[in-house]
Amino acid sequence: MSIPTRPFGAAGFELPVLGLGAMDTPHSPEAEATVRAALDAGIRFIDTARDYEGSEYLLGSVLRERPAADVFLASKTFRRTAASAQYDIDRSRQVLGRETVDLYQLHDVSTPEAWAQVMAPGGALEGLRDAVDRGAIRHIGISTHSLEVARLAIDSGAFAAIMLEYSAFYPESLPVLEHAADRGLAVIVMRPLGGSGRTSTIRGRIARGEAGPLTPANLLRYVLTCPAVSVVIPGARYPDRIRANIEAVEAFVPMSPAEMRELEQAAAALYD
Ligand SMILES: NC(=O)c1ccc[n+]([C@@H]2O[C@H](COP(=O)([O-])OP(=O)(O)OC[C@H]3O[C@@H](n4cnc5c(N)ncnc54)[C@H](OP(=O)(O)O)[C@@H]3O)[C@@H](O)[C@H]2O)c1
Repeated sequence: MSIPTRPFGAAGFELPVLGLGAMDTPHSPEAEATVRAALDAGIRFIDTARDYEGSEYLLGSVLRERPAADVFLASKTFRRTAASAQYDIDRSRQVLGRETVDLYQLHDVSTPEAWAQVMAPGGALEGLRDAVDRGAIRHIGISTHSLEVARLAIDSGAFAAIMLEYSAFYPESLPVLEHAADRGLAVIVMRPLGGSGRTSTIRGRIARGEAGPLTPANLLRYVLTCPAVSVVIPGARYPDRIRANIEAVEAFVPMSPAEMRELEQAAAALYD
């Protein structure tokens, strides 16, 4: 078995649909083992950011052991001006040990003010475009927690990829994901399991035999049922999580609308 692949938007290549969100991975005694388990299992998309403490450093040190690894690295900058974004890009390249970072994203552009800043003359988007021209990054993306900003970003034509939250806990992104895919953007889904607080509660319920349909495997299945999704990036700090998520994705069958509604209801009732 291998992880199914999907097109990365209109970029002209495919990637395994299961990636790794490496935001919290460094905060674990099994951090390096987790990254190695992901690479060994065929995960190719790994998401990090300048602002994820220790994450680029962790990835850089594991990837230096494996210079031939075929990995698609995505990082991000919170900086809002061209010059400071360029500075972040060069720090990422140095720490990750890469001449070129495959995808560089404007991080958490979630207010109209932040959107105006990054798009202004001298703003961060300009810095990312210059970085493409000098071969420092390959593709430009954006991450946002605002569906309003997401629509502006999609319609701007400036981005090859967009990262959005989508899950049974947060189904309202669906039309925006579909719009992004229609416009040829790659759609990267963050927080597909609802985030670490909820998953910890879910793990407790599973241990007590009380989970019902609300399992990590079903939450991943829910997200992948949307064909607009290019890559899903559950966070993980332990190799066992990677193995469980691989198993879930390899066994993927789309959910029926009734199953999706049932999971949304179970998600909404998690803390009842
Ligand atoms: N751009 C942004 O503004 C932004 C914001 C948030 C997140 N993100 C990206 O999205 C990624 C994922 O988000 P997230 O980590 O917040 O939320 P998430 O992926 O929904 O949930 C992560 C949690 O799920 C647990 N988990 C993963 N697989 C599991 C399994 N098979 N069984 C049981 N538990 C499992 C992890 O546990 P352990 O940690 O204990 O292994 C972790 O606590 C981040 O790493 C980051 O790359 C981006």
